[in-house]
Amino acid sequence: MNFRTIIEPFRIKSVEAVKFTRRDDRAAALRAAGYNVFQLHAEDVLIDLLTDSGTGAMSSAQWGAVMQADESYAGSRSFYRFEAVVKHLTGFTYVIPTHQGRAAEHILFRTILKAGQVVPNNNHFDTTRANIEAEGVEARDLVIEEGTVPHVLHPFKGNIDLGALERLLEERGPQIPLVMVTVTNNSGGGQPVSLENLRGVRTLCDRFAKPFFLDACRFAENAWFIKLREPGQAGRTPKAIAQEMFSLADGCTMSAKKDGLANIGGFLAMNHAGWAEAARNLLILTEGFPTYGGLAGYDLEAVARGLEEVVEEDYLRYRIRSIEYLGEKLIAAGVPIIRPPGGHAIYLDARALLPHIPPLEYPGIAVANELYVEAGIRGVEIGTVMFGLRSDGTERPGPMDLVRLAIPRRVYTQSHIDYVAEAVIAVAASRSQLRGYRIVSAPKALRHFTAVFEPLG
Ligand SMILES: Cc1ncc(COP(=O)(O)O)c(C=O)c1O
Repeated sequence: MNFRTIIEPFRIKSVEAVKFTRRDDRAAALRAAGYNVFQLHAEDVLIDLLTDSGTGAMSSAQWGAVMQADESYAGSRSFYRFEAVVKHLTGFTYVIPTHQGRAAEHILFRTILKAGQVVPNNNHFDTTRANIEAEGVEARDLVIEEGTVPHVLHPFKGNIDLGALERLLEERGPQIPLVMVTVTNNSGGGQPVSLENLRGVRTLCDRFAKPFFLDACRFAENAWFIKLREPGQAGRTPKAIAQEMFSLADGCTMSAKKDGLANIGGFLAMNHAGWAEAARNLLILTEGFPTYGGLAGYDLEAVARGLEEVVEEDYLRYRIRSIEYLGEKLIAAGVPIIRPPGGHAIYLDARALLPHIPPLEYPGIAVANELYVEAGIRGVEIGTVMFGLRSDGTERPGPMDLVRLAIPRRVYTQSHIDYVAEAVIAVAASRSQLRGYRIVSAPKALRHFTAVFEPLG
């Protein structure tokens, strides 16, 4: 028999209670947090969709590997197992562990960038952009036009605009040290990039003799979308597709907190011997010896096992379907979201939902805060607060005003997701009562983490 229900491909061995709170308590907690959900105590959150990063549930096999780890300072068995898994998956020659993705970015960019250069990407994630700009380098976003319009349907909205990339390479070639592509495109809605597009980037990089790096945090989710949507790919395993994605690049930065299915970890991997040596020298200064890179041996074991589990078909089928399921419920209720749903999150289009709140009054903050107060759900603004601050201190509207509801891996069940859908639909129904916010204080970089807000009358 062929049943249609796609079930969670696991059973639960260990549980963690969630705390139910009252509306008044949540309103007080949010006020105390400066109306910034990043500043809440996590135990005051019922369903935490702030991020899918480091929040996943590890498997019993991962916990078993944790217990068996080798904690030797240099040359531990766990490092060699980690290195073998990463090499088998990516094909890259040099594997450098780091404590998370941004450490890999920092080490790569610090060693290769020079002020005045420009790095193209489909969309730089915020830490990637910040690490590039910290070197006096421009981070240029070149996602295809469709990727910037929430309601436009396209199977690969994360694709980079190859024409724009070619023009940039022609105009600024000498100042471009590498080309990057983020899979999936987190800042653009968790949207995938096609193999065809990656091949196109490879061809341009060959023509202009530029290295090509993937920001590979969600490589497995991207591979699953390729299997589902790209002509000729349906019969391949996600692992084989992922291996081809990596084979088109010269290196990658990776946060193992996403598709590494681990709570911490990352790596930088590449084929360039000179860059790898420079990166290892900096690694020793800032992260640790090259065979642990800021991680415990047990973290290396967890990531190694996670990278094997994440490409399993049953897992990816459930993972992508569970996001799509939430998306379908919201679309059916008329809630504006980025369509089609991405790989790790649903992105509510707060600008479309709250046309009476201008971008500089942060409609994304209004939606995120209301969801917390009404239902104890924590999402995050990805919009004008995150991307609207210019280097001269002035503000402009971000490209979109979104609220990301990121789904942790293997953590919540279908009834949790049903509750989230019900809450979002209720908040959307009360949209006319929502008001904007103003910023009371904020740091100069990555302001969304610590900005203090005040509701407008
Ligand atoms: C696309 C992308 N790149 C880089 C990072 C940074 O990774 P980490 O949080 O492990 O430093 C993230 C984290 O969310 C991400 O989504």
